[in-house]
Amino acid sequence: MDTLYGRNKQEHPEPIKAEVQGQVPTWLQGMLLRNGPGMHTIGDSKYNHWFDGLALLHSFTFKNVLKFRAVVSPAQHKPSSGQVDYNKYVSVNVATSHPHYDSAGNVLNMGTSIVDKGKTKYLLFKIPSSVPEQGKKKSCFKQLEVVCSIPSQSLLHPSYYHSFGITENYIVFIEQPFRLDILKMATAYMRGVTWASCLAFNKDDKTWFHFIDRRTKKEVPTKFYTDALVFFHHVNAYEEDGHIVFDIIAYTDNSLYDMFYLKNLNKDFEKNAKLTSIPTCRRFVVPLQYDKDAVVGSNLVTIPSTATTVKEKDGTIYCQPEILCEGIELPRINYDYNGKKYKYVFATQVQWSPVPTEIAKFNTQTKEMLLWREDDCWPSEPVFVPNPDGKEEDDGVVLTCVLKSDPQDSPFLLILDAKTFTELGRAVVNVDMHMDLHGIFIPQQDMKTETE
Ligand SMILES: [Fe+2]
Repeated sequence: MDTLYGRNKQEHPEPIKAEVQGQVPTWLQGMLLRNGPGMHTIGDSKYNHWFDGLALLHSFTFKNVLKFRAVVSPAQHKPSSGQVDYNKYVSVNVATSHPHYDSAGNVLNMGTSIVDKGKTKYLLFKIPSSVPEQGKKKSCFKQLEVVCSIPSQSLLHPSYYHSFGITENYIVFIEQPFRLDILKMATAYMRGVTWASCLAFNKDDKTWFHFIDRRTKKEVPTKFYTDALVFFHHVNAYEEDGHIVFDIIAYTDNSLYDMFYLKNLNKDFEKNAKLTSIPTCRRFVVPLQYDKDAVVGSNLVTIPSTATTVKEKDGTIYCQPEILCEGIELPRINYDYNGKKYKYVFATQVQWSPVPTEIAKFNTQTKEMLLWREDDCWPSEPVFVPNPDGKEEDDGVVLTCVLKSDPQDSPFLLILDAKTFTELGRAVVNVDMHMDLHGIFIPQQDMKTETE
């Protein structure tokens, strides 16, 4: 297991030709770019938490032949040219790893502004896709606009968050009781500890939901909440008959985060590492237009779902989710359906161990699940790539990088037909590939520069 997580991985700046078995669809042209912690020892320094490692980027380029590259990106420490330090443009101390993109190419992201002018708040900001004519040569980031801010419930303990949701008209932000301790963070460097150790989960606290109207930039004033939870990933969100429906992968504690301390990722990891809380795909259904005279204790949800939303005596609204399924993480969708009613989630299957051994296609409407697995294989987050001529939500392929449990066996990129979840082909590379977290596919027409 140490070979998977703790050991520094090698860079391969020069493209390496992959050996293709099976058929790669001819329309699949572009680059799969994947990212994850790849280096944990720099000189005499060693990171304590796997998530803290320096990012190692690797790519598969689909252009007549399939090629692989891997380069280290020390973004967390010193942004080099081409990398962006958001803090230069907006006063945020942390920003999410999962920005959203609208159809015009604008980027939406969120960050936390900590104790700025005596306040701690969550900021939603927008980076325009292009700059006005007179501003050419300037970076898009200079046009960055703060869309709105949400005050943190606590000045010194803002919520940790890794992603947020959007619908056509609303931003969905979840303030979970998994919080950063700002005072601990301020002294973390001197004490030689990472910021991961400055996070704490309070199981007795509430999880608050915030909805921001994208037109008025104002928050919906009703107070919606659910029980304490820890989550990293939104799956999708949409509106239906006056309700906001949003799906997340949530836990009842923070055991997942603790498990990824490198000291816990030893050779017995696979045997010993058991989550105390299995990830569940939860659907919350929140009625924004409900009968204000509704009886206290009555369920306000009027669309078909087992999720409930109940009015309390003090006017707050308590939400309980529908459990769509259990044991999935690193969810992806057809991004053309982002913010819209959708059917399919592509994800890794993790069950009680956080190391994925399967990938899944889950139908949120029928609850059917298709799986791909192979002995001794550890697949990564599956990325859906739509077929440009496709009509249906699952017309396309799913790409996942698969590591082998025996380091002597070569890893490969797997190409599945997204409809049937059967293998179309695989591209084998004889390298020491690292276990990564996230990836994107950039179609050939969107790649501005030559990549080979
Ligand atoms: Fe993530």
